Amino acid sequence: MSTLFHFCIFILVASFATTVLCHERPHQAALFVFGDSIFDPGNNNYINTTADFQANYFPYGESFFKYPTGRASDGRLIPDFIAEYAHLPLIPPYFEIGKKHFVHGVNFASGGSGCLAETGRGFVIDLKTQLEYFKDVAKLLKKKVGRTESKQILSCAVYIFSTGSNDYFALLPNSTFSFSDNEYLQMIMGNLTSVLKGVYKDGGRKFVMLNLAPLGCLPILRALNLQKGVTNGSCMEEVTNMAKMFNSALPKMLKQLEKQLPGFKHTIFNTFKVSAETYDNPTKYGFKISDTVCCGTGPFRGIFSCGGKGQVKEYELCKNVKDYLFFDSVHPTELAYQQCAKLMWNGTLEVVAPHNLKSLFELST
Ligand SMILES: *[C@@H]1O[C@H](CO)[C@@H](O)[C@H](O)[C@H]1NC(C)=O
Ligand SMILES: *[C@@H]1O[C@H](CO)[C@@H](O)[C@H](O)[C@H]1NC(C)=O
Ligand SMILES: *[C@@H]1O[C@H](CO)[C@@H](O)[C@H](O)[C@H]1NC(C)=O
Ligand SMILES: *[C@@H]1O[C@H](CO)[C@@H](O)[C@H](O)[C@H]1NC(C)=O
Ligand SMILES: *[C@@H]1O[C@H](CO)[C@@H](O)[C@H](O)[C@H]1NC(C)=O
Repeated sequence: MSTLFHFCIFILVASFATTVLCHERPHQAALFVFGDSIFDPGNNNYINTTADFQANYFPYGESFFKYPTGRASDGRLIPDFIAEYAHLPLIPPYFEIGKKHFVHGVNFASGGSGCLAETGRGFVIDLKTQLEYFKDVAKLLKKKVGRTESKQILSCAVYIFSTGSNDYFALLPNSTFSFSDNEYLQMIMGNLTSVLKGVYKDGGRKFVMLNLAPLGCLPILRALNLQKGVTNGSCMEEVTNMAKMFNSALPKMLKQLEKQLPGFKHTIFNTFKVSAETYDNPTKYGFKISDTVCCGTGPFRGIFSCGGKGQVKEYELCKNVKDYLFFDSVHPTELAYQQCAKLMWNGTLEVVAPHNLKSLFELST
């Protein structure tokens, strides 16, 4: 009886020692951000790249920050809103953290990057390098707050990824591509898997993945193909089909990781569904215009040229950005990002599953 009693006490103590109660910590769980221009808060301002992969010039940033921060929109991006809802400060770009400001998280995202090292090579911080930077931050954190505390911060933190779209855009100019769709998908998933495993190895447990939008409907593709006479401005179904392949492989890959890695938790935001519905019924979601973009040139202003600093110099800027779903021919407006962030934060299982971000932040690890 007494041995059993002691045994139970022991189990209780042991489980307290290994479980981190993330909602009871003095600080909210941190937010680490990885991926492409959907999330880049200005990392590409600091690398040798091209203006097409940057947004540090007018009119980017015009609605909220009132100056171009490097975010490819008129204002804030999804991670900015998530940080606000989680009562965190704005999460800084990796290149601006100095030695102090990273206990609430760091943003490693880089415009133009994908899951593959070839995507944007030489002009972006690829996902594997983003992982290396994260590992450096994890080391700094350990030095700053000690082993126990840094372990808690890293295991309670949420790791959010937007990546994959650029791997498919990278294929577009190339009709003599030498991999099958499925081989390419396996390479993408393989590289993504090893980055997630790398974050896990350093103590990350809570992962958020955005699946891909119907990429063939992005205004840039509709406009390019209209100009080339390939289509009449309708969506490019074959590109959207590649996004669908990615989206059906993603949950399988994550379930596999959940089996392999004890304590690995994930959630998927259904970007595809949310984007398709908003694109098809803009007025229902508070937009007047979803097929023409705010800033660009050519048909639907869909030729990528906002700001005129890239390859194409001429561009027009809309008057009322609040009417638009897209700011430039690839990137949504702040208002669109805010709606996505709200759905991620406390949306239903139809769009964010198996956890919304509010519950994922609080989840014990
Ligand atoms: C930056 O990239 C350009 C090519 O876009 C190259 O000519 C130049 O040498 C690079 N500079 C550095 C410092 O890497
Ligand atoms: C197209 O793909 C082939 C085979 O992968 C490669 O050798 C070639 O450099 C690519 N061309 C362009 C323009 O990307
Ligand atoms: C990662 O991508 C490269 C191409 O960039 C590919 O050769 C390699 O096999 C991929 N790795 C995995 C684990 O799939
Ligand atoms: C463009 O073509 C698609 C399919 O070929 C057709 O369904 C659509 O109505 C056309 N749109 C316009 C504006 O002509
Ligand atoms: C969801 O979260 C957003 C952002 O914090 C908030 O404005 C909204 O009221 C919340 N909705 C519900 C139903 O809790």
